[in-house]
Amino acid sequence: MQTAMREVVRVVNALPASDGAGVKLNRVVGTPGLPDLDPFLLFDEFGSESASDYIAGFPDHPHRGFETVTYMLAGRMRHRDNHGHSGLLVSGGVQWMTAGRGIIHSEMPEQESGLMRGFQLWVNLPARDKMAPPRYQEFAPAEIPSVTPVPGVTIKVVAGRIGDVAGPVTGIAVDPIYFDLHLDPRVTFALPLTMGHAAFAFVYDGSATVGGATLAKRRLGVLGDGTTVQIASGEDEARLVVIAGRPIGEPVARYGPFVMNTRDEIIQAFQDYEAGRF
Ligand code: CO
Repeated sequence: MQTAMREVVRVVNALPASDGAGVKLNRVVGTPGLPDLDPFLLFDEFGSESASDYIAGFPDHPHRGFETVTYMLAGRMRHRDNHGHSGLLVSGGVQWMTAGRGIIHSEMPEQESGLMRGFQLWVNLPARDKMAPPRYQEFAPAEIPSVTPVPGVTIKVVAGRIGDVAGPVTGIAVDPIYFDLHLDPRVTFALPLTMGHAAFAFVYDGSATVGGATLAKRRLGVLGDGTTVQIASGEDEARLVVIAGRPIGEPVARYGPFVMNTRDEIIQAFQDYEAGRF
């Protein structure tokens, strides 16, 4: 098979935003500059050492028609929904929630001080799955495998596969990868990616050169197509996530926490929510 190198085609800055009950965060996908990157609808980094920035959390709110993925770097978040499901997300753990036809949930910090940090990603669902029953995949840090493709590079495989190592998250419509990469100083390696899948890299500590572009902290690089991307650190350690998935290619009708294919389906979502059918 031919190798085609992916290059960064666009660099996007994180925008300060707030969501839930005033949680301060940095939004990178889902902004006027980058409204989406099919199949990804939103990507936020939340993080603060100041409890007042996060303590009010995300009280009860609905979702329909897509998936929310919460990956914690530090701190603890309690999740609870209206179907009786609850779970505690800890540092290094992940929750991949397929909202499907609808849930109402809260995501609340379970700590009163110290560092809270993580990411929330929204992944769209194709029309055939938008009204599927809700599904949760939750994994503790110990259940997320790591690989070392070359000395000095460690990759936590949340979803997708590197060589023989597969992440614990399975059965997702867009066949995603979600990798958390830690690079020692001055290392270079090539990461294989599936041709045709949308992909981005987001640097959350240090800086890294990805697909020919040097990304400073809190910069997202949108990757052009190809089978592999070259990633390198500089004089310092670097930490980044690389996320990819198959584009869905369907019309997107989006209003707040509802993401459907048509405006009528959005109106139906509001009616179902207000009638208590979530
Ligand atoms: Co939510």
